[in-house]
Amino acid sequence: MCGIVGYVGHRNCADVLVDALTKLEYRGYDSAGIAVFEKEEIKVCKSKGRLANLTQKMETEGKPNGVAGIGHTRWATHGEPSDLNSHPHSGDRVTIVHNGIIENYKRLKEFLISEGKEFKSETDTEVAAQLLDFYYRGDPVEAIVQTMHELEGSFALGIVFADFPDIVFAVRCESPLIVGVGENESFIASDVPAIIQYTKDYYLLEHDEIAVLTPYGTKIYDTHYNKLEKELKTADWDVDAIGKQGYAHFMLKEIHEQPEAIRKTIAPRITDGLPDLAECNITLDYLRSLDRIFIVACGTAMHAGIVGKYVMEKIARVPVIVDIASEFRYRDPILSEKDLVIIISQSGETADSKAAMELAQQRGAKTLAIVNAMGSSIARGADMLIYTHAGPEIAVASTKAYMVQIAVMYLFSFQLALAKGKISEDECRTLVKQLEETPDKIAEILEHKESTQQIAASLVAADSLLYIGRGLDYALSMEGSLKLKEISYIHSESYAAGELKHGTISLITEQMPVIAIATQQDLFDKTVSNIKEVKARGACVTLVCTEKHSVEEGVADFRFNLPEFYDLLMPMLAVVPLQLIAYYTSVLRGNDVDKPRNLAKSVTVE
Ligand code: F6R
Repeated sequence: MCGIVGYVGHRNCADVLVDALTKLEYRGYDSAGIAVFEKEEIKVCKSKGRLANLTQKMETEGKPNGVAGIGHTRWATHGEPSDLNSHPHSGDRVTIVHNGIIENYKRLKEFLISEGKEFKSETDTEVAAQLLDFYYRGDPVEAIVQTMHELEGSFALGIVFADFPDIVFAVRCESPLIVGVGENESFIASDVPAIIQYTKDYYLLEHDEIAVLTPYGTKIYDTHYNKLEKELKTADWDVDAIGKQGYAHFMLKEIHEQPEAIRKTIAPRITDGLPDLAECNITLDYLRSLDRIFIVACGTAMHAGIVGKYVMEKIARVPVIVDIASEFRYRDPILSEKDLVIIISQSGETADSKAAMELAQQRGAKTLAIVNAMGSSIARGADMLIYTHAGPEIAVASTKAYMVQIAVMYLFSFQLALAKGKISEDECRTLVKQLEETPDKIAEILEHKESTQQIAASLVAADSLLYIGRGLDYALSMEGSLKLKEISYIHSESYAAGELKHGTISLITEQMPVIAIATQQDLFDKTVSNIKEVKARGACVTLVCTEKHSVEEGVADFRFNLPEFYDLLMPMLAVVPLQLIAYYTSVLRGNDVDKPRNLAKSVTVE
């Protein structure tokens, strides 16, 4: 996955493109490049590595000067990160930037070589550029339509034709793309943050749509060259949402935004103290009819699903199966019309999660999407939809999106338990009230976060560590472990505390720190026994539990005290110190916290 942008208007195009790309760097940062019309000529400037390398290169070699062009930030799929494989890519008269994947590029490349075309890079993108060139006979839209009929896969393209110096063309096939509408200027971008400082108005391109952008407006066509009328959308957040606002990193800012994100997500779904998901198309009658639920997602979103499983099974007594989307889609799952498949996704564009949703639908199951990004593919494809309102999440490591995903898991579980008659209306009101208390409790934790820095300092030199817990704490430990490894690059595993002695305890030495989460009253003593087992073998232990829990001297080397709260809701509190420990460890190791190596925010390829 990559980020693409395009601009045509009255400003310095290179400046606009670079600025827009900085907002999309979360999508990939293996290389960056732009193509700008300088008078009648397309000038390309590109460089391996971060966007900063490109700006440096332009400072020394000169910045293209013009008012129309396209830009790209890359997460490498076809071909290693290198100057040559960096976008834009060109044919004779066409230059393009591309997000997504062209599946049949090998066959097309062979055909184009047989037609005399020469290739410079290993990318699938260059094939699209050469194919456009092959079909181009003077009418760009005609060439685009013909090319779209040939290309297989999911992709979004920004295109400039040498013969049309003040026009930017764009295409969407699955991969997300918007068209920004400004005053005497038009934009394309993979995501709204790229253009928000210029305009909040945009068109959301749909699958198989072509946009022709000029400073004075945009025409949108289908693949039969019919002109379409589109609804103009307006982003409901502003430029502040995409700035760091004084925080050292987006991740830290987003951790602090969690209380507000929970409030925004749950408040509209509570009526008269009870969960109200009717607006999301979820009725009590429908919930009553459910015998079984699947939750399918990737990474952090899948971890939110695991918390959901524990909660739903505990209070609604409905069996829940949690699957990794990339496994679910290929394991021939047994599904029927009676099943509900919940897809959780921050971006709403994750290829495996989307494919899992489509598979579930083909097999007759109903799908419910829990998605943060408005208008994304998963949001639009699902039968039922609950939006989370975390706002834009820029840091690659997800924090506030996870928090609101689990908030929705709770709300949904309460509604399910009520529908199933497992709790009374009064009990449900009490649970909802408790959920509404979480933002203040989290704010309290954030005010006393200093000790997470000391804990991070104790981990900074470790090569590997273990997270342990039982029940909901085990579910949470998976997210704690993922957060740490993805941004600190320290290997870590999460383990069910009771399972340690069946093999894994052999790893424990003085060099293997252990983070134990013990927030559940009924499991506390059992987890403490497991902590003593690792302590006896030399591990340095950090214990995350509540103030009220007392443990003997020497059981833990470090302790993070959470405020008193309800056991069922403890994951929403306990995840905060785990996020902070990961954050400070990464900072202490001098890593790029917001853009960890090899990763990108939105995984739109398999
Ligand atoms: C980790 C992280 C990823 C995502 C995963 C799914 O911090 O962010 O594990 O959770 O790639 O992404 P979405 O939620 O966009 O489907």
